[in-house]
Amino acid sequence: MSGYNIAFVLTGSVAGFKACDAISRLVQQGHRVKAVATESALRFVGTATLEGLTGSRVLTDLFEPGAALEHIQLSRWADAVVVCPATANTINRFAAGLADNLAGAIYLAHDRSKPFLMAPAMNPEMWSHPATREAVARLGGWGVRFIPVGEGRTACGEVGEGRMAEPPEIVAAIEASLARPARRLRVLVTSGGTAEPIDGVRVITNLSTGGTGAAIADTLARMGHNVSLLRARGSERAQAVRHDETFVTFADLDFALSRLLSSEPYDAIVHCAAVGDFSVAGVEVGGSAVPPRSGKIDSDSAPVVRLRPNPKLVDGLRARSRNESIRVVAFKLTHGEDRAGAARAVEALFAHSGADLVVQNDLAERRGPEEFPSVIHTADGGEVRCATRSGLASELERILSSMPAAEAAPA
Ligand SMILES: Cc1cc2nc3c(=O)[nH]c(=O)nc-3n(C[C@H](O)[C@H](O)[C@H](O)COP(=O)(O)O)c2cc1C
Repeated sequence: MSGYNIAFVLTGSVAGFKACDAISRLVQQGHRVKAVATESALRFVGTATLEGLTGSRVLTDLFEPGAALEHIQLSRWADAVVVCPATANTINRFAAGLADNLAGAIYLAHDRSKPFLMAPAMNPEMWSHPATREAVARLGGWGVRFIPVGEGRTACGEVGEGRMAEPPEIVAAIEASLARPARRLRVLVTSGGTAEPIDGVRVITNLSTGGTGAAIADTLARMGHNVSLLRARGSERAQAVRHDETFVTFADLDFALSRLLSSEPYDAIVHCAAVGDFSVAGVEVGGSAVPPRSGKIDSDSAPVVRLRPNPKLVDGLRARSRNESIRVVAFKLTHGEDRAGAARAVEALFAHSGADLVVQNDLAERRGPEEFPSVIHTADGGEVRCATRSGLASELERILSSMPAAEAAPA
């Protein structure tokens, strides 16, 4: 991809240094970037740096002589506008429709048929404050695309949600917003393994890394589809997705699926998560029940863990979905099966889940993270063989895009 015009608005955050890296990457990929900086942004990053990176004058002042209509011209010139880093102040000001600085005027004046993205960066308390939550929801409703924040240590030293996305994620999100698929699908991808607590510090889980789901989500998003990723906490992230949410337990995943599927008419769900077959029903030590998720069972004791089978989430996906015609992609991991055994397992999954596509792969054939020998089965008996994760992701994109549009049920 090359040659898009990008208006890059910086606001006042320490994450300004990451924005410079993102600008540099955009320019290296052949895009033309014009930088706009609020007065606060220039306390963190100098105009010399921004001019050096973009090769253009940095715009700051709404009333600059000779450039007074720059906010309109810039909005018309840009194929996409990104605010990065986006402070709590600017997010809240945009949500109130304030236009008393250049950034606010650009937001109000932008052509709403073009992408407008924001990469928030702030302290976890600022990010979770009701004012910010409401502003984000409001702007989202007006078409602003938020590049998901990360969890971890923010510049102020506090740990939580609010850390700005990394430069490669920002570049991927901008490029994804400019990609033009023939039909933009709304896709929900699940990935990673569930974990069931035994006490306050130990879990029963599986070895899923979430890598395959993340690769599929990433490919779909980069091709311009609107992707939500529901992934296990700590599992691999995907770049360019519109919504990134984590789960821990089976119950968390179950709840999040209901909420997401009923709130948005997804065209497809790629259900790649390694859902545990069992949840912890109870733990006993010396005949006494241990309260759920509390404390730490003594290392020298011999706990008894009772498990209960979990329902098959894949079977109820369509019934829970606001779009009853949602395309369901299910996964079947076999172990050392010959072709006939694998075919029987796939057939059984089609029968009980009503899936449109089943991806089958065999544990014995896995070699490394990118190598992913697998077969995409269609309900009418068709087969597409894939060798790698990225190959699988591209084939799924091609097949899902070529399926007739499913009718969304009325809200
Ligand atoms: C050292 C320092 C770091 C800051 N980092 C952030 C930040 O990451 N996110 C944020 O929302 N505000 C941050 N602020 C506060 C903003 O800079 C302040 O609200 C400012 O008015 C934002 O103006 P602007 O949105 O017009 O750029 C920081 C302030 C200082 C002094």
